[in-house]
Amino acid sequence: MKRPRQPATLNREEAFALRWRRGRRDLIGPITRLYGGTEGPGPILERIRQVLARHWAARPADLRRLDLERDVDPDWFLSEEMVAYVFYLDRFAGGLKDLPARIDYLKDLGVTYAHVMPCLMPRPGASDGGYAVMDYRRIDPKLGTMADFRRATLSLRAAGISTCIDMVLNHTAKEHEWARRARGGDPFYQDFYLMFDDPDLPQRYERTLTEVFPDQAPGNFTHYPDMGKWVWTTFNEYQWDLNWRNPEVFLAILDTILFLAGKGVEIFRLDAVAFMWKRMGTSCQNLPEVHDILQALTQATRIAAPAVIHKAEAIVGPTDLVPYLGQDTHQGRESQLAYHNNLMVQFWSSLASRDTRLMTHVLRSHFPESFRRACFATYIRCHDDIGWAITEEDAAHMPHITGPGHRAFLADFYAGRFRGSFARGADFQVNAVTGDRRTNGSFASLAGLEAAMEAGDGAAIDAAIARILMGHALIASFGGIPLIYMGDELGLTNDDGYLADPARAGDGRWMQRPPMDWDRAAEVDTSDAPHGRIYRGVRHILAVRKATLQLASGIPTRVIDSGNTGVFAYLRLGDDRTITCLCNFTERFQDVALDVPAGAIDLLSGAPPLRDGPVLRLPPYAALWLRA
Ligand code: GLC
Repeated sequence: MKRPRQPATLNREEAFALRWRRGRRDLIGPITRLYGGTEGPGPILERIRQVLARHWAARPADLRRLDLERDVDPDWFLSEEMVAYVFYLDRFAGGLKDLPARIDYLKDLGVTYAHVMPCLMPRPGASDGGYAVMDYRRIDPKLGTMADFRRATLSLRAAGISTCIDMVLNHTAKEHEWARRARGGDPFYQDFYLMFDDPDLPQRYERTLTEVFPDQAPGNFTHYPDMGKWVWTTFNEYQWDLNWRNPEVFLAILDTILFLAGKGVEIFRLDAVAFMWKRMGTSCQNLPEVHDILQALTQATRIAAPAVIHKAEAIVGPTDLVPYLGQDTHQGRESQLAYHNNLMVQFWSSLASRDTRLMTHVLRSHFPESFRRACFATYIRCHDDIGWAITEEDAAHMPHITGPGHRAFLADFYAGRFRGSFARGADFQVNAVTGDRRTNGSFASLAGLEAAMEAGDGAAIDAAIARILMGHALIASFGGIPLIYMGDELGLTNDDGYLADPARAGDGRWMQRPPMDWDRAAEVDTSDAPHGRIYRGVRHILAVRKATLQLASGIPTRVIDSGNTGVFAYLRLGDDRTITCLCNFTERFQDVALDVPAGAIDLLSGAPPLRDGPVLRLPPYAALWLRA
């Protein structure tokens, strides 16, 4: 019998119906747990479906094509070719219209992913570096318009670069329309936030909360006498925490994400996700519901905008971090990316102590060798301070250190107070009660370049450059997408310019946010000054990464004991060949007796490693990628 003829392609509605049927399976669990209530998940799922269907229908043709590409290649972001660059648009290019002119620079470095730091309409005045958003649907007028943004994403994509922006979803500015309506007394919008009529509950919550900004914004609640309410404000007073128990908040943020996805965003950096759910008697961080929310957002986005992925920003200890890449029921379904802040902390810890045992212990015992359809974003520095996330339990594994002692040592070392320290950083948010101190400073300044240049000490400059390049080699090979923070490829040092600007002077994190130095950038091919050497070194590291299949993010990473406390070692277990990566965290030659085949080549230098009989000799601060 002849079958009726069917067209070879699905129409838009059919495709959506199929996508919904498949995606619903990954939504139903988290949505039921979060918002099921007495009626079950049916009504809220139906509203989610409507939001998704609306955005699916409106999705522009170029993005639909990208959707299809990524349906075919859902592992695109795990490729060894991925390299990210993170920048403040005004400090990097000026505005959105000026961005295309800088694309050649990004391409030269090998960038495939551009994180444009907060660029949505911030509140006026102090805005926590743009993390206090008053309108998610408008670009900061100082930078351009939404139409400019869309055009910029097209130029970037034409150059093989995906656009990432921040989605600040733990809080809005108090000037956001939702907050203004809430303040005006509208109960629907009051339920978007966490508001209390008297200080009793806030005080009870405070007993188990920590303070993010104990100096500049102590406490977690703010009293507004005009409203007669206490509002939950984890960060600054002007950043009001959203109430994620309210399904309207979920729907509103999902709608916002898809609106922005329709403007060409391919990666959303979900800001401060650890804080999204609160429960009395807990620290209100990393609660299980956060993972349900993230799975639900990721899977809903995947239905209507499959080209898009999410990166969770949870700067937390090792055991709390791993679940953000999907564990247990969330495996392969939660955020595709998460910041590896523990790798970052351990890099700085080993560099200061010249001892990699804590690093080896932490990275070996708390982290799986690979994740299902997810990977880390690896980095050495970013726009924020460094929180010394070293637990008592991990410190207890080491001889002669304690958690508080080692954290205090690191803060002292990087503030340049410790004798013999090469670093030029500064304390941030010293907490008199807990003794906690965090650290600010640029990659180059913390790694010793600023002090060495000031002293005009050639050997110290060489050592600082070697430390910087070892850090770049580490994040390019450890597994995950390396994030280069603007200026770190040129060795830009601390900037005190922020002190003259009242809206920024109170926040020391601005010292690691210098404006781009285009004069130096113009000389990278020719200059023998540190910026030329660092840039060429970074570009080379990234080029070798891109040519090395075994460095793709889906390839397992196994941390091993090098047998030498000064040397950190890990294997990339490619299914054809293994790469043995070694980092010497000291200023002296180090010997390592590892079983590396005789003919092995160091991919970075293109030459065999130094050997002394069966022993490998690592030059000071060397990074080696050995492949048979
Ligand atoms: C994130 C940002 C940080 C900001 C905070 C609150 O941690 O990286 O800069 O202060 O969220 O939005």
